[in-house]
Amino acid sequence: MVQTPIQENNMKLKMTLDVVKTLDKGFNKRVLTEHASDCPVKVISCDNHQEVLVFDVSISRKILTSKAFSSINYFKPGIEHLAKEGESINLISNFYEQSILFKEGKEHDEVKKAFHYLLEDLSDGLQNNKPLIMKYFDKRKKRISSPLIFTNTLIQLCAGLMISKLTSIPLKRVFHALSLRRNVFFSHFHASRHLASNDAFAYLYGASNPPEEYTHEGHKHLLAQSLIIMGIDPLVGEICANIVEGNTENFIGGVDRHCPTSFVSRLCVQPYSIADLEFNPGDICYTSLLPGKNEGCPSGSNNSSSLAFGVGVHTCIGKRLSLVILGIAQEVMHNCFREGFSGQSVISPDGAFLAFRDTE
Ligand code: HEM
Repeated sequence: MVQTPIQENNMKLKMTLDVVKTLDKGFNKRVLTEHASDCPVKVISCDNHQEVLVFDVSISRKILTSKAFSSINYFKPGIEHLAKEGESINLISNFYEQSILFKEGKEHDEVKKAFHYLLEDLSDGLQNNKPLIMKYFDKRKKRISSPLIFTNTLIQLCAGLMISKLTSIPLKRVFHALSLRRNVFFSHFHASRHLASNDAFAYLYGASNPPEEYTHEGHKHLLAQSLIIMGIDPLVGEICANIVEGNTENFIGGVDRHCPTSFVSRLCVQPYSIADLEFNPGDICYTSLLPGKNEGCPSGSNNSSSLAFGVGVHTCIGKRLSLVILGIAQEVMHNCFREGFSGQSVISPDGAFLAFRDTE
């Protein structure tokens, strides 16, 4: 039977709501570790494709390492809609168009290689800045009253130093830009978060524009923007998770257990079957990265099966840098906050990320 446009729209809306509801149910109640899920897979069918939510990490791993799936710019329809409505969204839209997260093949590999060298340099630079970071916290420790305030302050400082180094934009300007940004990886397209992040970029650049895409300067700015959009939230979540958990000795080892990024999305581009699932081109897949019960690694050990930083061609470029920052966070805690904090932060997941909020 042929559907009317209204019936077709209702069907699409119902499917979108089903997907959002299932993502919310799966990840909004996530705990610090051992994220038990009541169903390994949920399939939501539409007339011409299906959306599949995978909560079983062994299936996630196979999907993320298969050539049958590719990344997609899932923000594109929402961003185009905002642009049509006359919203000023150009800078963030260009970032999504250029981001390696949404690229495949040669273009992806070349930019990723350029990032690799820049990140090595940034990691070494941060290590050299450790005395400055210690001094910064030593001076301000009385004003820092909760794990979340500490974490936000530390990441703002580390990210600020690195962005300023990459872009030559003054640190004070970078700090203000960072205060405007928001997590855009929500379980559905959240317009105001993208607008806020565009505001952050607009403040950062003022009257100028980011440099040309495929130049050395262009890569430096793209990496600075990637840090703002993709690096800050999981870092804040991970450091806070360690403090809230009471893990003071091994922040780095905590990542595999806490897995601050809950899930990633892919588009099926070739027929693929796994377990009882059949994927066809056009199907969308949301794959959980969270270790289930008894899958998280004990504190101190190295879990090679962890998906905390993703797996396959899109594995996180910021892993080494993140481990350096986690090491610095642990040292600052030991030096300046041995007694802990007077205020409390509690888990409050935010879309794709593990996040925290302060209690009153
Ligand atoms: C604890 C901290 C971090 C965690 C847990 C984390 C997690 C992840 C995950 C799971 C992916 C895979 C995405 C996918 O497969 O779709 C990813 C990709 C990525 N991450 Fe991170 N990340 C962290 C820190 C950072 C930092 C500091 C940066 C700084 C630039 C960064 C930049 C990126 C980029 C550019 C990609 C895309 C890589 C590609 O598509 O090839 N991340 N990250």
